[in-house]
Amino acid sequence: MYLGLDLGTSGLKGVLIDQDGVIVGSASAPLKVMRPYDGWSEQDPNDWIIAAENVLDRLCAKYQPEMRALRGIGLSGQMHGATALDADGKAIRPCILWNDTRSYKEAAELDANAEFRAISGNIVFDGFTAPKLLWMQRHEPANFDRVYRVLLPKDVLRLWLTGEAISDLSDASGTSWLDVNKRDWSDDLLTATGMNRGQMPELVEGNAIGGHLREKLAVRWNIPRQIPVAGGGGDNAASAIGMGVVQNGQAFVSLGTSGVLFAASDAYQPKPESAVHTFCHALSGTWHQMGVILAATDALEWFSTISGKSAADLTGELGDEVRAPGKAQFLPYLGGERTPHNDTEIRGAFLGLSHGDDRPELTHTVLQGVAFAFRDNLAALQSTGTDIQRLLAVGGGARSNYWLQLLANVLNVPVDVPADGDIGAGYGAARLGLMAATGADPATVATPPEIVRVIEPNTSLVPAYNDAYGTYTGLYRSIKGT
Ligand code: XUL
Repeated sequence: MYLGLDLGTSGLKGVLIDQDGVIVGSASAPLKVMRPYDGWSEQDPNDWIIAAENVLDRLCAKYQPEMRALRGIGLSGQMHGATALDADGKAIRPCILWNDTRSYKEAAELDANAEFRAISGNIVFDGFTAPKLLWMQRHEPANFDRVYRVLLPKDVLRLWLTGEAISDLSDASGTSWLDVNKRDWSDDLLTATGMNRGQMPELVEGNAIGGHLREKLAVRWNIPRQIPVAGGGGDNAASAIGMGVVQNGQAFVSLGTSGVLFAASDAYQPKPESAVHTFCHALSGTWHQMGVILAATDALEWFSTISGKSAADLTGELGDEVRAPGKAQFLPYLGGERTPHNDTEIRGAFLGLSHGDDRPELTHTVLQGVAFAFRDNLAALQSTGTDIQRLLAVGGGARSNYWLQLLANVLNVPVDVPADGDIGAGYGAARLGLMAATGADPATVATPPEIVRVIEPNTSLVPAYNDAYGTYTGLYRSIKGT
């Protein structure tokens, strides 16, 4: 048995699999986000440990024989968060999360230093880790002076599980301190933010061993001693391991709160100016690229709140037949945008509304706006040389057939729908745990899921969507500064 622990933003999930990769059971515990000031987003690292204890208690109660047969653990988690620890391993302040924008000035300042894009392969986004430490240095100098080590969220769990400060390369790629080509910390980038290598965790590949379970915890849950904990991965890389997206040409689209268009690659081909993220994958010698949009299902949730109808009712009203694009357009930049605009300030818009536009037409327009934002991401990925021929669809939004058909029409690629929706980051983390414990060949473990449906683009609608997308691409510039 192998356990994946995924530390998400809204909850921590444990997924138990057997040696054939079949899911045996799972449990989760919710987490809250604190937003004390505009733009801030924080969590108390102690809450992560409490959530992990809760998940382990429940898994051990429900799957006792299976948990006694545990051979390995894998970790995945929300990326980019800065947890500053003191010399005793205690959190100095709450973790500053991936969706916290307070350090936008520091991010722009670091990004203006050409070394950051050249070495890290990426824009320094305000959500990334390095600018958060620069912010601490300026705004909380007493805290900054006590920083003994900085860990990413899932690696705080590892410190608790194993006593060791270790990270994996996929997660470390989102710090702005990693030389993503050399797969090592960059002393130059660390120095530029007043940090040094000694404050960083040791690095391992995602499927390598990154610590062993502490005796005390093994005894507490009556599970085998000294079992290995895999390096694991950032949530997107771990999800890709769960979906078998590991080779050139394999890709997925995730319709979660935020949206991700992810492609695996066996070459390092960064293009920071496209606002594409180029990160190490969770397997050695592989990288991945992704475009990130900040509001995917979040945009539909927003419309659901203001229209007083649940998201499922809204998409239900549309029926199954995807309509042709109307005149109305929606820009989903409710909280700014990452790819392709890298713009914290931009906000969303409805444009071109007519008397005749009813609620279903506006729902369609919201879904279409998100699909167009994904098309911007596809174009950004293609501009780096990445070729996407088909996409696996995952995330809560993938439950809407209408949205998936719309995406297929807008992106003009077939969309594959997996049989089991529960193959996300926790499942990928469990697979990494299996690989680390057994040394199994990733090619035999990180396999694609069973596909139940292939949604082909509706060729009669593709030209109309091309035209509507053409209009959409001009709108960002017209609303900028409003
Ligand atoms: C990736 C990113 C998000 C977080 C959220 O760059 O910011 O996917 O990892 O979980």
